[in-house]
Amino acid sequence: MRHMPLLLALSACFVAMSSANASEGSAAPEHRFADSRVLTGFRISPVELDLRRKNRALVGIGSYIVNAAGACNDCHTSPPHLPGGNPYLGEPEIINAAQFLAGGRAFGPLISPNITPDEHGRPAGLTYEEFKSLMRTGRDPEDGHILQVMPWNIYGKLTNLDLRAIYEYLRAIPSLPDNAPASPPENP
Ligand code: HEC
Repeated sequence: MRHMPLLLALSACFVAMSSANASEGSAAPEHRFADSRVLTGFRISPVELDLRRKNRALVGIGSYIVNAAGACNDCHTSPPHLPGGNPYLGEPEIINAAQFLAGGRAFGPLISPNITPDEHGRPAGLTYEEFKSLMRTGRDPEDGHILQVMPWNIYGKLTNLDLRAIYEYLRAIPSLPDNAPASPPENP
């Protein structure tokens, strides 16, 4: 399984998930994916996830990308870590889960926006098509400006599946009000 190509592993996962859903209560065969991005993603998410009407495999991969590679928390949570939990001060990391991805960090004149789901369940109020286009082109769908600060040129090289997974994870995290600008970046 460890070397199984991602798509094969994913389709196996989808099959596994649908049969698990069909017989609610039976043990989910997640141990078969013990070394996959899906399981790691679920383990490292700092917040509870609402999996209703979500694709679990995509949520897991999205969490893996957001929390193990994307560093979204560093810029979109203010402050990213709780007092005493700042790894840049040599402390064991405690992510500021209560404000997770609710925005509010100042980068010069720019404030990172809230990217949690809005009242319609849309991360940052964006449809998936808008989100994908923003991540690929860096263009804000509302006014067309090119996003500064955020490394969209890097995220834009992710596969469609990975961008879909990020979006699916952001749909599953708690919806929060916009956070007020508070702290400058810990590691600008
Ligand atoms: C280095 C800091 C930084 C990182 C890392 C970062 N962002 Fe951003 N992001 C920003 C800033 C700042 C803006 C607003 C920029 C602007 O308007 O020019 C932004 C804007 C956005 C927007 C547009 C929201 C809207 O309302 O239009 C989305 C969506 C977004 N980021 C998602 C993400 C995701 C998902 C990740 C992780 C994969 C991420 N960002 C990582 C700093 C960052």
